[in-house]
Amino acid sequence: MSGETILVTGGAGFVGSHAVRELVDRGFRVVVADDLSLGHRSAVHPQASLAIIDLGDRAALAPLFEQHRFFAVLHFASRSLVGESMAHPFRYLRDNVVNALNLIELCVEKGVQRFVLSSTANLFGEPDAMPIAEGARIEPGSPYGESKNLIERILLWADRVHGLRSACLRYFNAAGAHPDGSLGEDHQPETHLIPLVLDAAAGRRPHIEIFGTDYDTPDGTCVRDYIHVCDLAVAHALVLDLLAERSCRFNLGNGKGYSVREVIGAAGRVTGKVIPVREGPRRPGDPPALVASSALIHKELGWTPRFADLETIVRHAWAWRQSHPGGYGHRAA
Ligand code: UFG
Repeated sequence: MSGETILVTGGAGFVGSHAVRELVDRGFRVVVADDLSLGHRSAVHPQASLAIIDLGDRAALAPLFEQHRFFAVLHFASRSLVGESMAHPFRYLRDNVVNALNLIELCVEKGVQRFVLSSTANLFGEPDAMPIAEGARIEPGSPYGESKNLIERILLWADRVHGLRSACLRYFNAAGAHPDGSLGEDHQPETHLIPLVLDAAAGRRPHIEIFGTDYDTPDGTCVRDYIHVCDLAVAHALVLDLLAERSCRFNLGNGKGYSVREVIGAAGRVTGKVIPVREGPRRPGDPPALVASSALIHKELGWTPRFADLETIVRHAWAWRQSHPGGYGHRAA
């Protein structure tokens, strides 16, 4: 497989850029398709080629499939904010679904045989049981989660009708940064808990606001399963083999939940700073708790997170944030 060419959409984004790094390290050639609206040119691996393309523009996308014979397509490019999707549901449902459909149709037409989708824990909304296994009831918690559910359904039919094999990887909360400091998290504007807590620790924000303290959880704040971005990247490489045989779907997390207050506590220990906290109202669309069971991918592919410990995840994020205080555009002097 090594030496084959893989198309990575969203390869300039947070999870996508780490997956590209993993693929290049394993000897694949990588073509990144990204419109750079949310991603960063300097997050693209120097050995990958970059096509600046809007996936909504099918005519612009098609020539890429003429120029290369893709062994697999990894689809990361997407809007991915739960809260934003509650304010702009149709933007999420249209853009995420139409872009994926363009890509999936091209894969079928051009004979690509493996497709890997960045899916999400938000498929499960408010689950009946925790940790959440692959067979849990799907009841998306937001239009964002619904958009991924629709894409998973499209992939089901692409397999049944056309034999396109796909892996739907439902990430829980992607976090951390590459341990060598070369890649990290840079969303503009940033809305994710760990980078915002670290900015509060660094004094770049006056405080971190906790969105809701009256949830039915042990300390009243939301519980999430934070999974290191490099562990997610490895899972993408592992499923490529399995796709030679069949389609699959896996939940990817550490199997351990941490509350917002616990994350703030971990960040205080890692940074050695006092982090100012304010308590605010709930954010629409936030489920109280999401914790993964990743027993299936462990059993089938031997995947085990290498950086399972929350403080390690926060430490890597802190190192990157200190060396890139303004993100990719602004390195520390
Ligand atoms: N939170 C705060 N204050 C903040 C930011 C976040 O209290 O300033 C809380 C949120 O309410 C939530 C938790 O911290 O309970 C984590 O929030 P994030 O914004 O970091 O992440 P989400 O859980 O909303 O969503 C992330 C990804 C989604 C993915 C989901 C899967 O952004 O794409 O994880 O669980 F679907």
